[in-house]
Amino acid sequence: MASILTVCLGNICRSPLAQGIIEHLAQDIFINVDSAGTSAFHRGSAPDLRAQRVAQRHGFDISHLRARPLMAEDFDHFDIILAMDRENYSHCLQLAPPGTDFSKIRLFLEHYGTGVCTEVPDPYYGNMDDFEHVYELLYDASLQLVEELLNEHGAGTE
Ligand code: 4NP
Repeated sequence: MASILTVCLGNICRSPLAQGIIEHLAQDIFINVDSAGTSAFHRGSAPDLRAQRVAQRHGFDISHLRARPLMAEDFDHFDIILAMDRENYSHCLQLAPPGTDFSKIRLFLEHYGTGVCTEVPDPYYGNMDDFEHVYELLYDASLQLVEELLNEHGAGTE
């Protein structure tokens, strides 16, 4: 079973939304998805209410998710680690223990994006339009990710 970790700074806006989108799109395949933050500022917090609202508007629920910091063990546990922006990506590279397969650490939009932009902008100080924009970027990249997983693992496989 493929396991995927989405990573942003606070783990309350972009990465839980990305987690929810991937889980929602991949309902029919066995994958494990989690999210984490490169900081521990919001440890234990539910996703930002604006992220929850965008998720709800698009038909899925992320209210049960709780923020946690990225840990060294994550680099062994997960097959694909998706960083939302270059700063998150660089933090992932710094935290990854020696021996990590660095090819599993990916800048999400660069690896799966449409070429329009390579980073998911931080919406924390923005408004609902910014959260909707983040959703759209994440949705397009997630579609490509899930397509890749289906091609590699097939629907319903372990
Ligand atoms: P996230 O957004 O990294 O997408 O969860 C942020 C959340 C909180 C803060 C910054 C970005 N903050 O500064 O507290």
